[in-house]
Amino acid sequence: MREAGRVLDRVNDRYSLGLKIETHLIGGAAIDATGEPLPAETLAEAKQSEAVILGAVGGPKWDSLSMDKRPEKGLLKIRAGMDLFANLRPAMLYPELASASTLKEHVVSGLDLLIVRELIGGIYFGEPRGIEGEPGQRVGFNTDRYSESEIERIGRIAFEAAMARDKRLCSVDKANVLEVTVLWREVMERLGTEYPEVELSHMYVDNAAMQLVRQPKQFDVMVTGNLFGDILSDAAAMLTGSIGMLPSASLNRQKQGLYEPCHGSAPDIAGQDIANPLATILSLSMMLLHSLNTPKAAAAIEESVKNVLASGYRTKDIVTGASGEKIVGCKAMGEAVLDALN
Ligand code: IPM
Ligand code: MG
Repeated sequence: MREAGRVLDRVNDRYSLGLKIETHLIGGAAIDATGEPLPAETLAEAKQSEAVILGAVGGPKWDSLSMDKRPEKGLLKIRAGMDLFANLRPAMLYPELASASTLKEHVVSGLDLLIVRELIGGIYFGEPRGIEGEPGQRVGFNTDRYSESEIERIGRIAFEAAMARDKRLCSVDKANVLEVTVLWREVMERLGTEYPEVELSHMYVDNAAMQLVRQPKQFDVMVTGNLFGDILSDAAAMLTGSIGMLPSASLNRQKQGLYEPCHGSAPDIAGQDIANPLATILSLSMMLLHSLNTPKAAAAIEESVKNVLASGYRTKDIVTGASGEKIVGCKAMGEAVLDALN
């Protein structure tokens, strides 16, 4: 976040964006300061802003807290509180990083796919939920549910995204087992008739997971529910070499958005200045494009990241072993992006 903050300050200046930037607490930092993973003030300010850039939450320090007090709850609450139903997770491979992926180069080179994940419904939020019963005989349960209107609004986002890309949309479900996704498939089919130019296909989630590592370039846009999207986007991330490269956007109807890297807080490397700041920096670019309507500034950040990679700068997670690579820490990577912006 510190490196992303510096990049944001720079483009704010350079492109005279006039952005007023405020910082508020969420997650572990908020728990330590206020006892709550999402203080009311943070949510209120977030709702009033045009866009939110969010640092990953969570860590072992807070792992033993009850479900309601965990840092992750802050994240889920701000997503729901801002009504951010549409989560866009692009996975594209920078050519220089083709050999950073654990998959063979020819499988991933040229990869450019977009996962559209429903973010505030499904089993993450469904009621009833809980753990009940006598010790030794307790039962844990959650509810996976989607209404037609919830499916339709995320479907539209995905169809529109496909229209702006290669016009291929794969809807991922488990319609051979789960009724909730039988309905999902029906609604996607119906929507498909409104977008005759988009080639709509359906895939069961188990097969989709396999296809993502077998032949990921068959996909253009994938649309799926909250849980499947969570899982598939991590798999997609690895195709790009490192989850440290993946930005994401979460939007509501007004295109107000929250932008965050797909990765977590990586507590195992905290404080060592080795984290990859590029996913957060690229999230800024998505924010400038989708919520702040400043495509020039967005493109400048993206270009700078491309330049930095082309010049050989690598944080540890994206080292390929090719000659000319300069292994740098988090701060130096941020500085390299700032230099490229100049
Ligand atoms: C993600 C994360 C979150 C999620 C966690 C931290 C609650 O894994 O954004 O993918 O499951 O949505
Ligand atoms: Mg996840």
